[in-house]
Amino acid sequence: MHTWFLKLAAGYFVIGVLVGMGMSMTHQFGLVSLHAHINLLGWMSMALFGIIYHLYPATAESTLFRWHFWLYNIGLPIMMVALYLVLTGVNAALPFIPVGATAVIIGVIVFAVNLWRNIKA
Ligand code: HEM
Ligand code: HEM
Repeated sequence: MHTWFLKLAAGYFVIGVLVGMGMSMTHQFGLVSLHAHINLLGWMSMALFGIIYHLYPATAESTLFRWHFWLYNIGLPIMMVALYLVLTGVNAALPFIPVGATAVIIGVIVFAVNLWRNIKA
């Protein structure tokens, strides 16, 4: 299932560069933090998760993996869609950014614990 991190990462990469291209073409840079976080939290970080879980199979077998996967992949879309809405003027979406971000951050902590526990030197 960890291969899903790689497949989803590739999807975020496509969206991230499209947002970058959109900003370049329109000379409207209001979505820069959306672009940055889709690329860095979506593409770069998720691609690393996929590669790390592949390199260290014991980490992918842990239940912590599932917690990480779902917290991250529920939290990140909520955070990114809410960020997009806020950046385009829908202020009502603001509370959803920290909700998504908190799920992402807990997922990252779970990921770290998994690596500390299950990667043997
Ligand atoms: C074809 C691909 C890409 C295009 C057209 C593009 C375009 C842009 C544009 C127009 C900006 C705003 C620059 C400004 O406001 O001065 C930007 C900022 C940024 N881009 Fe991209 N980008 C691309 C790919 C990427 C990728 C792959 C990453 C990360 C892996 C990335 C990370 C960032 C970051 C972190 C910023 C914010 C930089 C800052 O705060 O000054 N971009 N990009
Ligand atoms: C849940 C996790 C995260 C939260 C809540 C968060 C939050 C933020 C906030 C509030 C800003 C300032 C945005 C602005 O000035 O408009 C920012 C900027 C930035 N963050 Fe993050 N961040 C997170 C994760 C990350 C990660 C993992 C990376 C890199 C791998 C990263 C890279 C950046 C960069 C390059 C900028 C400057 C570009 C920009 O203006 O967006 N962030 N972040």
